[in-house]
Amino acid sequence: MKALVFQKSGIENLRYTYYDDPQLGKHEVLVKVRMAGVDPVDLMTVNSLKVKPIPHIPGTEFAGEVEKVGDQVRDFTPGDKVTVYGKIYDGTCDMCMAGYETVCRNGGRVGIDTNGGYAEYVAIDEKYVHKLPEGYGWELASSLSISALTAYHALKEAALKPGQTLVVFGASGNTGMFLVQLGKKFGAKVIAVTTKSWLGEMGADLSVSYDEVEEKVGEFTHGRMGDVVVNSLGKAFWEKGMKVVGVRGKVVTFGTLLGSEATVNLYQLYSKHVSIMGVNRGNRSDFVELLDLCKDCKVKVWKKFPLEEGVSALRSIGSGERDGRVMIEVE
Ligand SMILES: NC(=O)c1ccc[n+]([C@@H]2O[C@H](COP(=O)([O-])OP(=O)(O)OC[C@H]3O[C@@H](n4cnc5c(N)ncnc54)[C@H](OP(=O)(O)O)[C@@H]3O)[C@@H](O)[C@H]2O)c1
Ligand SMILES: [Zn+2]
Repeated sequence: MKALVFQKSGIENLRYTYYDDPQLGKHEVLVKVRMAGVDPVDLMTVNSLKVKPIPHIPGTEFAGEVEKVGDQVRDFTPGDKVTVYGKIYDGTCDMCMAGYETVCRNGGRVGIDTNGGYAEYVAIDEKYVHKLPEGYGWELASSLSISALTAYHALKEAALKPGQTLVVFGASGNTGMFLVQLGKKFGAKVIAVTTKSWLGEMGADLSVSYDEVEEKVGEFTHGRMGDVVVNSLGKAFWEKGMKVVGVRGKVVTFGTLLGSEATVNLYQLYSKHVSIMGVNRGNRSDFVELLDLCKDCKVKVWKKFPLEEGVSALRSIGSGERDGRVMIEVE
């Protein structure tokens, strides 16, 4: 089959080439990939993460159609439209038993610890495969495993409540556009911190620039500030995030896009009863709930690349001109 493949870390080593067709295990489903999202983690996979197998096919977020099923698979038939829960889990450790597959003690990630979706086909254990409800387009279906799931899990962990104010940093990003939409579904008022002008179309009640965020959140909340602030931009905007969280508020992070070492003013933290929470991707139950909840979610796509131009797709996610998601379409 055709795939994007690298043998040695570095985007300069990623090639569109032939790779052996996957061998289908008896409990596995062969998925014909239709579309895959491009996320910061995919670029990290190619550039620096420890991966297996080698040579490696990246691609953590994808959806497609069932092509074939293993002998023991009963719940899928060829032609089913499916997406993939992308955290590998054993189902037996204490974290899995508590419903936290996302931090399984023996876990991993599809596309990093296994081959991923930047290929014509992926063979994957049926336990990770989920049928798409009616009406899902490929752009949304291939935005669920990372972008939407991480956003949903973050809001659940933060216990965002109706009427509360959610502040989303980097709101036009892959996760940001879902945080805004899901925040509305939770019944919150949503402030998008963004350089873009289209977050109102995703439901944001207010869009503000990074420079004026403190003042505008203050005005909007009459001085109360945010109840939940999701800020995965890391060091560059960490302080701004801490300035816009209110009393008993929560600052949630799942990423460090612009640097991982940030400073915390402990007085600011305890005097306002603020919590800082780290969260990572999402659990299986979150994924199942999300499939239903996010049926009408929108995806703003900036560019779609064919698989043969996948290297350009990965290079483009850091472009200053980017205005929405980058997707890879597989014929
Ligand atoms: N732990 C997990 O499970 C998990 C899951 C998903 C993502 N992540 C991490 O979370 C972070 C965000 O992910 P994402 O997929 O939403 O990223 P993304 O699509 O690249 O979005 C980042 C957004 O940040 C804003 N931004 C502000 N300054 C920027 C700059 N100098 N360079 C780039 N973007 C800038 C932009 O939004 P505006 O134009 O709207 O300001 C941009 O759209 C990443 O670090 C990612 O690795 C972690
Ligand atoms: Zn486990």
